[in-house]
Order: sequence, then C-alpha cells, then structure tokens
Amino acid sequence: MPELLAAHRARGSAAGAFTCYGMEGAAGVLRAAERRESAGVILMISPQAYESELGEPLLATLLALGEAAAVPVCVELDHAASPALIERALDGGAGAVMADGSQLPYEENVELARAAVGLAAARGAHVEVELGHVAGDEEVARAAAAGSLTDPAQAADFLARSGAACLAVSIGNVHGHYAAEPELDLALLAAVRAEVDVPLALHGASGLPAPLIRAAIDGGVLKINVNTELRAAALDALAAGLPAARQGLRLLRLGAATCDAVADAVAAKLALFEQLDLGAPT
Ligand code: 13P
Repeated sequence: MPELLAAHRARGSAAGAFTCYGMEGAAGVLRAAERRESAGVILMISPQAYESELGEPLLATLLALGEAAAVPVCVELDHAASPALIERALDGGAGAVMADGSQLPYEENVELARAAVGLAAARGAHVEVELGHVAGDEEVARAAAAGSLTDPAQAADFLARSGAACLAVSIGNVHGHYAAEPELDLALLAAVRAEVDVPLALHGASGLPAPLIRAAIDGGVLKINVNTELRAAALDALAAGLPAARQGLRLLRLGAATCDAVADAVAAKLALFEQLDLGAPT
C-alpha cells in the first residue's frame, strides 16, 4: 500500500479503492486498471462479505488475482471494527486493513487503531483509520446526510497516538446515496491536511461529481473508495442479461457481463482519479 500510494502521489493522481464481492467484479477492476496502466488499485472486501461463509475464499481469490495482475494491487479489509477480524484478514494475507472505530468514543477509537497497528506491523501491513464518522451503510445504498465531521486537531492527536498510516476523513461525504446535492467541506479538508502528514482517504465517492473529486485530490486526498456505483452497474448488467442467459442456461455470460459492467464503471472512475479528463491539476 505505501508504494502504491507513493506512486499515485508522484503522478498527481489518487488510488482507486473498489469493493469486490466476487471474482467477476475483481477481474473487472483489474482489467480497467491494466488498460489504463494505473499506478495501482486497491481491492476491498467489506466486513460483511469477509464474515460470510465465502469470506476466506474471496480474500484468497482477490489476493491471487492481484498477484497475477500487471499493475500493483493491494487487498484491504474495509471497515473492520474488531481486532479478531483484523488479525484474521492479516493472517489471510490482506496487505491493509481499515480499523473503523469511528462510531466509538474517541479513546476507544484510539485503542482499536493502536491494536490494529500492532497487529499489522508484525506482518508488514498498512492500517487506515477513520475520525469523525462517514454516515451511511456500506452494504445498503440508502440516502444519507453527512455524519460527524473530522476534527483537525483531534486527527493529529489520533495519528500520533495510534501510528496509523492513512486517515479516512469525514468532510460531508457519505456511503451510498447522497440525500441532497453532495457537498464537501474543502476548507475542513485543508485544515486536516495542515495538521497531519499521512495519506488521506475519501470514502463514499459514488455520486460525487467530477469537480468535487478533483478538488478533493488537489486538497490532498490520495485514496478514494467506491462501492455503490459498481454494485449498481453489476446488478443492471445482470438484470439486462438474465432473460437471454436463462433461456440458454448461459451462466458464464452473466459472469462476463458483470465483469464488463464493473470494468466500464471503474475505467470512468480511474480517468477521474487520474484527472485526465479534467486537465492537469492546478
Ligand atoms: P460508496 O458506496 O458510497 O461508493 O462508498 C464506498 C466506500 O466508502 C467503502 O468504504
């Protein structure tokens, strides 16, 4: 993860982090990243997916696909709230974990982050943390309004005490659908950037318009998480392809349609995160 993020920083781009629920989606992410010769992508597993019956095979699949990819790949367990789950993912080979204590009292969030950093350090892995709370549900795309925002001074204390390597900011971004026109507090982002020197992550990028994404990257965001838009693309492709596939019992075609749909959605995001379609950063 540190090398991948450093490569994006050098290019003036941000790394795309995409939630994967299976092999087809992950293959779509990687196809898009390879075609764009990306400086690297992050394949994320949600805690719900990881805790499901197929969680371990999913992690192993993402690791194998990442290993075989022609671009740098890091596999991250997203939004993990327990040290046991974090340890399991690290033992399973995840290169990064997000220790999410954002809904805990501050001292407990610090405690969880410290525990995660200790577990990750022993395995050469990377820990992302969240301060303030990004509202919305990562699994159910309900409309949400901004949660509690990141406090810049507290962010500095949080990182100093936890030793975490990446901070997810809450600056008006939400998971799932935005309840109103999305707005990011760019002054707050600048204030956080001034207080901390670790890479900043922006969750809830589905539905954020291009100028806001660009402003966030210019403001120091180096990792951008996307889930909802990929799920919508995959489900739309499945719905469209289902009648014909059902007729001929062509299961393979549905998998290919999922892969194509995710690849197209990811390619559009990567272009945005590379700022190519918007000109060079100012
Ligand atoms: P969206 O589902 O809003 O794209 O958010 C994804 C995310 O932040 C995962 O951590």
